[in-house]
Amino acid sequence: MVKVKIERYNNQIEGVGYTGGKVIFVPKTKVGDIVDVSVTEDKTKYARGKVTSPNTNVDCPYFYECGGCYLRHFSYDESVKLKYNNLKQLFLKDNLYTGDIKVNKSSNYFNYRNKISLKIQNKKIGFYEEKTNSIVEIDECLIARDIINDFLKVIKEFKINNGTIVIRCNYNDELLIIINTDDEIKYKFDKLKENFKIAGVVLNNKAILNDDFIIDKLDNKLFKISYNSFFQVNNLGANKIIDIIKNNLDKDDDILDLYCGVGSIGLAASDKVKSVLGIEIVPNAIKNALFNAKMNNISNANFILGDVSKSLDKIKNDFNAIIVDPPRAGLDQNTINFILNSDAKKIIYVSCNPITLVRDLKIIKDKYNIKSVDMIDMFSYSYHIETVCVLDRGN
Ligand SMILES: C[S@@+](CC[C@H](N)C(=O)[O-])C[C@H]1O[C@@H](n2cnc3c(N)ncnc32)[C@H](O)[C@@H]1O
Repeated sequence: MVKVKIERYNNQIEGVGYTGGKVIFVPKTKVGDIVDVSVTEDKTKYARGKVTSPNTNVDCPYFYECGGCYLRHFSYDESVKLKYNNLKQLFLKDNLYTGDIKVNKSSNYFNYRNKISLKIQNKKIGFYEEKTNSIVEIDECLIARDIINDFLKVIKEFKINNGTIVIRCNYNDELLIIINTDDEIKYKFDKLKENFKIAGVVLNNKAILNDDFIIDKLDNKLFKISYNSFFQVNNLGANKIIDIIKNNLDKDDDILDLYCGVGSIGLAASDKVKSVLGIEIVPNAIKNALFNAKMNNISNANFILGDVSKSLDKIKNDFNAIIVDPPRAGLDQNTINFILNSDAKKIIYVSCNPITLVRDLKIIKDKYNIKSVDMIDMFSYSYHIETVCVLDRGN
């Protein structure tokens, strides 16, 4: 155990102090805190630790153990400000962008998640402790939607020893339960229908009750989402992203929607533009996107299955707007080259990882100017943010 004075924050908003002449990262502390810390990692150049005598009381009983939320020891406004400061610094570096960054705070920073992923180990059900594989058992999660918390009360009855359970819900409080386990389950899942609206139960990739998908709403459109398709976890935040994108599109635009998932962005934007082509690697997500176009009577959108990087060679590079919404790793060189060789008037980069966003923008800005940057706080109390960056060709 060491005593540490927290002097600043790193880019994950962890407290940073010193011990034995070495830097130590202590999550869940504030600048000015003097705290007892147990060292969990001791490397040559740095150490990590866990605060054992927190200075701040928080509303969640699991916060100091659980690896889910990171920032509950700050007020909501403080947490947003810290995230904004980090983003601003990243953009200021090398003069990438010195303009305003618009901050879109969340209006639902409690109970916003429509999906949680639980681990089960030796009958213990919960989330992983930060940077470990040990389970923090939970009865409730303050950032999950209420219906998910109601469902948490019955999970023990399934008598699963080891595995994972993902719980998804939709606008209508229906639930899709996705279980992976090698255990034999004797539980009669039909019983769930007495107390819950069950869209489906999927066991080891097969629906064993009702369907293997759920239908949710964004931007007043319906989206079929298969059990293994991506969908944003915060519907209000996702609607905000869509608003920003739509405000930057024109009726003559042919848009390319890269990493399109179930088509949420492209289909939501379809009534503002001439045409949409989406590309996505998960087969079920592409099937969903094609179905979603039909379900919403959209006839100007098409979707193709493939790895973005490998598919770009096969399509004509004649779009006047390119939207990219890649996973955390950001864009690969082939995709960046496609953008740089395009005649697109605008690029809209939606990112869940500011580090890779800024890395990619540093290359893309050779040809495009950054017109606006929006930070959307849609993963409240975690250190994550979503950023939407609009670029144009200037003159
Ligand atoms: C951040 S999500 C965005 C999805 C969608 N735009 C939305 O808002 O719901 C990233 C998507 O990229 C897909 N993906 C990941 N790697 C890919 C690749 N190499 N090529 C195509 N799609 C990929 C994932 O399956 C996921 O659906």
